[in-house]
Amino acid sequence: MGSFHAFRIERDPEGAVQAAVTRMRLEDLSEGEVLIRADWSSVNYKDALAATGDGHGVMRRFPLNGGIDVAGEVSESSDPRFAPGDEVLVTGHRLSETHDGGYAEYVRVPGDWVIRLPEGLSLREAMGLGTAGFTAALALHRMEENGQAPALGPIVVTGATGGVGSLAVSIFAHRGYTVHAVTTKLDQRAYLESLGAEEILPAAEARPTGKPLQSARFAGAVDCVGGAPLAWLLSVVSPLGNIAAIGNAAGAELRTTVLPFILRGVNLLGINSTFVARELQEEIWTRLATELGSSELKRIVRNEVSLEGLPTVFELLLSGRAVGRTVVRID
Ligand SMILES: NC(=O)c1ccc[n+]([C@@H]2O[C@H](COP(=O)([O-])OP(=O)(O)OC[C@H]3O[C@@H](n4cnc5c(N)ncnc54)[C@H](OP(=O)(O)O)[C@@H]3O)[C@@H](O)[C@H]2O)c1
Repeated sequence: MGSFHAFRIERDPEGAVQAAVTRMRLEDLSEGEVLIRADWSSVNYKDALAATGDGHGVMRRFPLNGGIDVAGEVSESSDPRFAPGDEVLVTGHRLSETHDGGYAEYVRVPGDWVIRLPEGLSLREAMGLGTAGFTAALALHRMEENGQAPALGPIVVTGATGGVGSLAVSIFAHRGYTVHAVTTKLDQRAYLESLGAEEILPAAEARPTGKPLQSARFAGAVDCVGGAPLAWLLSVVSPLGNIAAIGNAAGAELRTTVLPFILRGVNLLGINSTFVARELQEEIWTRLATELGSSELKRIVRNEVSLEGLPTVFELLLSGRAVGRTVVRID
């Protein structure tokens, strides 16, 4: 085989990050036992940070192909668990951090990172979910493991129109929770309601008032934005409720007091989609394939781009204007 297309991220001698579609050879790809012929990838906030150089620390080495997600067919494998023709996916791990990522016609990874495509999902649907869907489902898993249940009361989701947010609204609603959605985009009310949100709150109201505890309004929360909205969530979640801390789109700083923890027993659960045991990864993917309807996923996957279209989507995500998920067609 000659060369193939890849969206490659480089750093010039002055430290400026540049990314573009280029051609490369298989022998220049990162090492691994499984070579995947990629069909689909997706766009996550971290992909936008990595490719624009905004996310200091996302990329641990240069140059690398971007893309933290990939789905496709095994092309070659020296790992006995996988054979040519198997449909597989990889989300997270070290893709586009220390290892060439999913924005390329070929991706080579360690066998331990590879998950067999669960029955009931197409490769495109798997990438519609991608790291975002996996993370939202991991939040549900961690919260329920810690006692969350629909009967305890409503769940609130911040950054609700984003990728993780949209999937969290949908996944929790499907599971029987009453879901309230916090958003900066009040014009997306109909979209959020179509995913199962019962109440929509403007993001401007999700700010601390100065009182460490306010009246408890929610039994739990999924937070995609960090910063002031997370401080607010800590003050409005009921006793013993769980808050899944996923993202920092609104800021990495958290100013709070210990009072929600010691007076209400509120639990702040850190969610990291990278450090998940293989058995749990497989369990979560099976649940995603069976529990979320394909019509909801169709509503959430609003955009499809080729490798050339990536920079425009990155801009949307970094300015907080993206709605739902974008899948990337590799061809
Ligand atoms: N922990 C993990 O393993 C993990 C995995 C995946 C993602 N993440 C993190 O989760 C977050 C969301 O990722 P994503 O891929 O879903 O990104 P996304 O699609 O860009 O969604 C982010 C959403 O957050 C809201 N937002 C953006 N900027 C904001 C601001 N300045 N103030 C308040 N809200 C703002 C917007 O929603 P509204 O307009 O509806 O408010 C936006 O659509 C990111 O921080 C990402 O790094 C973490």
